[in-house]
Amino acid sequence: MCGIVGYIGHREAYSIILKGLRRLEYRGYDSAGVALYDGNDIKLSKTKGKVDDLASKVSQEITTEGSLGIGHTRWATHGEPNNVNSHPHYSNSGDLVIIHNGIIENYETIKQELKNRGYSFHSDTDTEVLINLIEDVKKNENVKLGKAVQIALNQVVGAYAIAVFDKNKANEIVVAKLGSPLAIGIGKEEFFIASDASPFLEYTKNAIYLEDEEMAVIRLHKGISVRKIKDDSLVDPYIQELQLNLEQIEKGGYEHFMLKEIYEQPSAIRDTYRGRLSIEQAIIKMSGVEDNMKRFLNADRIIIVACGTSWHAGLVAEYMFEDLARIPVEVEYASEFRYRNPVISENDIVIAISQSGETADTLAAIKLAKERGAFVFGVCNVVGSSIARESNAGAYTHAGPEIGVASTKAFTTQITVLMLIALRLARAKGTISSSEFRMHMLELDLIPEKVENALKSDAHIQLIADKFKDAKNCLYLGRGYNFPVALEGALKLKEISYIHAEGYPAAEMKHGPIALIDENMPIFVIATKKGHYEKIVSNIQEIKSRKGKIIAVVTQGDEVVKELADHVIEVPETIEPLTPLLTTIPLQLLSYHMAVLLGKNVDQPRNLAKSVTVE
Ligand code: AGP
Repeated sequence: MCGIVGYIGHREAYSIILKGLRRLEYRGYDSAGVALYDGNDIKLSKTKGKVDDLASKVSQEITTEGSLGIGHTRWATHGEPNNVNSHPHYSNSGDLVIIHNGIIENYETIKQELKNRGYSFHSDTDTEVLINLIEDVKKNENVKLGKAVQIALNQVVGAYAIAVFDKNKANEIVVAKLGSPLAIGIGKEEFFIASDASPFLEYTKNAIYLEDEEMAVIRLHKGISVRKIKDDSLVDPYIQELQLNLEQIEKGGYEHFMLKEIYEQPSAIRDTYRGRLSIEQAIIKMSGVEDNMKRFLNADRIIIVACGTSWHAGLVAEYMFEDLARIPVEVEYASEFRYRNPVISENDIVIAISQSGETADTLAAIKLAKERGAFVFGVCNVVGSSIARESNAGAYTHAGPEIGVASTKAFTTQITVLMLIALRLARAKGTISSSEFRMHMLELDLIPEKVENALKSDAHIQLIADKFKDAKNCLYLGRGYNFPVALEGALKLKEISYIHAEGYPAAEMKHGPIALIDENMPIFVIATKKGHYEKIVSNIQEIKSRKGKIIAVVTQGDEVVKELADHVIEVPETIEPLTPLLTTIPLQLLSYHMAVLLGKNVDQPRNLAKSVTVE
């Protein structure tokens, strides 16, 4: 998830773009850049780091006249965060420049074709491939920039919000959108483009939000023409007058980043498997796994090291890897693993899971593992983070920046990556049939839509949260794949509402915790139809007989648990290994609403940091 800004009009473009990039830094902040047209040529400056780093680099590198320009603040998905990979990107001729938010899935194929036609590339990005494809079309078809963009985009697969201009036709900007947001601000003899309205709200409240597969040619003094990318047909755009304020826009209209990120999970999960899962070809392809397949297949065991929510994702992965790929797995708290003098061999694979990629204990754990000969595979959300760089190989979650301290979309995208790996290894080992493999892929592809469906219970969950917000202690119970979800649900409640909560395997109740149960104890039970359903129903009956208050997460249409529980929250049905991606949604929303009702600081809970870089 990156931030893009552009301007064409009568003011100095640079100051508008720089301020706009600062407003979009919540969308990504590992590198930034700007390209300005000064009346004669393009002036481009870009750097690793934040927008402030860009400002100081610009002041040393380029002059900033000109009323046409584009700018970008990056959240890397392809290519390390560094100067050369940051945006904007030139075409080979130097005539065209582009900024891009999204992922071009078939960029490697296009890159090879362009190389065969003599194009050269300086970066590892998919974006540089796109601008040279546009240039190639423009030259070979002898068409204007707008038409070249339209033809080129019909050759790419993936997601994009782009802005492009040609120094030889510097009275226009061409933009296009598929899967990533793009807003056009309409002022008096000036136009703004941005990932959201925050960069231009102070100048104009009139905006067009392009729909998917739409593009626009924005011409100074001539206005905007919006077209469908597929067939070039004209579109009559809806110009809306914005009512949001700046803070609301940054949070996408949500009250808190945490709620926004809970609702981003369908797209974050889809972005995470995009380009890695192909149902048509019945393949899962992740370069970090492909390049080390032999090592994975010959591994004696997989050791997962992580902390907090990432550790819970590791527990889900343990069920996946053993159940599907029959590979022995141990899941370790990184903080314990690093100090207990563990037995590690060269045939071990250590998987480090970390959203930030900077957690000190996890980083120390993998350094120890590497010293003792293990191969380390990182699953991180921040490209180029310390853990990603320390790992021998890895696979990124494409969740985009997670601003709320409480992890939500990080958890579900970690599970998505780990499921892709488990399925790929299971297929390679032949521990699942091709039909089972395909069924799991089809189900994974349906998950974003099913998460959307689970989110529809938000209002119902808010009512339940209001009933239990004053509880002093809560229990969370789950079995099988949903035992780690019970732990995660308890952690969510603890860290943002400060209510004490514990997660347990449901069968553990009779070994002590059941003594805690009385009419004041809310018990959140994950009781989906998959996996030991009858057992969990009998656990619920044990709780009921002791007057515990039962809030059950059930499969849509469940009438049995509905009779037993005080409240039920329904989620769509899916296969057992994927249930955590759905059952965690109500528990995230429950903790969110309880914390809000208690007046807590949801995005920055007391005593916590987003990344624990100290021991
Ligand atoms: C979870 O909501 C917390 N933010 C915390 O437990 C977090 O998961 C843990 O600190 C690990 O962080 P990481 O994923 O960035 O390594």
